[in-house]
Amino acid sequence: MKIVIREDILTPDTFAGLRAACGMPELEPALVERAIRTSLTAFSALSGTRTVGMARLVGDGAFVFLLCDLLVVPQWRRQGIGSLLVKTVVNRAKSFLPQGRAAVVSLFSAEGREGFYTRLGFTELPAAGLGAGMQIFRL
Ligand SMILES: CC(C)(COP(=O)(O)OP(=O)(O)OC[C@H]1O[C@@H](n2cnc3c(N)ncnc32)[C@H](O)[C@@H]1OP(=O)(O)O)[C@@H](O)C(=O)NCCC(=O)NCCS
Repeated sequence: MKIVIREDILTPDTFAGLRAACGMPELEPALVERAIRTSLTAFSALSGTRTVGMARLVGDGAFVFLLCDLLVVPQWRRQGIGSLLVKTVVNRAKSFLPQGRAAVVSLFSAEGREGFYTRLGFTELPAAGLGAGMQIFRL
């Protein structure tokens, strides 16, 4: 079945449904709604009317771009949908900037998925001249 990528049609219910299909814990509906509303944009991968994948681009639209929530439902994996979503998000990040200005798109790879992203052009950190990505996690 043909896959169509659509921008800015993602709903909180669809986001929550994709997370559930990928075995991820449920999130508070109000937070899911806010996540979508405050994203720079979100892309949905559709097979007919069914959403089988998504990715979000968050950031300031100028200097900071983060690719997150890349999800493809298990039955639809290994058919290039995840790669297509990543490429679409990266191209969209570029489109926020003046012609010729490079966009730096960051992401946090799931453990063991680094190779998927390096094959799509991402650099694994730390790298020459670049330190490790860092984060703080507190509940
Ligand atoms: C990570 C994820 C989004 C990838 O989605 P996907 O649609 O399977 O991605 P692709 O099909 O583009 O690529 C996946 C693999 O299938 C391979 N592939 C793509 N098309 C293929 C085909 N027609 N036949 C065989 N293999 C294929 C790719 O080369 C890739 O291989 P790799 O993992 O060794 O790099 C998906 O596995 C997922 O949702 N995982 C759970 C959530 C998650 O971990 N998200 C990422 C957080 S960082």
